[in-house]
Amino acid sequence: MLLDLVKKRRSIRKFTDEPVTNEDIKKIIEVALHAPTAKNLNPVRYIVVRDKDRLKELSKFKKVGAHFIDGASVAIAIVTDTEISPVTNHQDASIAASFIMLQVAEMGLGATWANVTTSVNADGRAAKDVLREFFNLDNKFDVECIMAIGHPAEQKSEKIAFNYDENVFEDLDDIK
Ligand SMILES: Cc1cc2nc3c(=O)[nH]c(=O)nc-3n(C[C@H](O)[C@H](O)[C@H](O)COP(=O)(O)O)c2cc1C
Repeated sequence: MLLDLVKKRRSIRKFTDEPVTNEDIKKIIEVALHAPTAKNLNPVRYIVVRDKDRLKELSKFKKVGAHFIDGASVAIAIVTDTEISPVTNHQDASIAASFIMLQVAEMGLGATWANVTTSVNADGRAAKDVLREFFNLDNKFDVECIMAIGHPAEQKSEKIAFNYDENVFEDLDDIK
């Protein structure tokens, strides 16, 4: 049941040395390739990074909050082509990233999303530009997030949902 899976999914930032197989990576991405995109345009691309040195370098794309990429078995950069979908590319990428996180959890693996948007690296360079250079990407591409994936080396409790009454309203109620 999907509810069981969303309870099981947590952000995992510590990984064992056990590799995620190419077959597993393919399965994870296959799920993302089924995600809906606005007007069915599919502006989303996936770049798979497995090389340990590249993962280490990638973990420095921003000053804080991406250290766990060094230690992951694989990172998947979720990239959008802004010429294909200049308006809804971020939403499309977020849905694909969510599908990836759920499939990762389903397989008993762990993942954490490293955000890009307004972040900067240790030299104050925009993370977006650092990543374009890292992946040798044309300016039309936006790297939306980096998903670090591996076998979990930390245990987390089940996800606790946000409170229903504080977050759900009937039509014309005042939202607090
Ligand atoms: C859009 C988004 C961006 C995130 N960016 C980061 C990040 O840059 N670094 C990080 O360590 N975790 C990041 N996370 C993970 C969140 O911190 C995490 O999902 C949240 O604390 C809830 O924990 P849970 O995933 O275990 O339920 C991000 C999550 C989302 C949804």
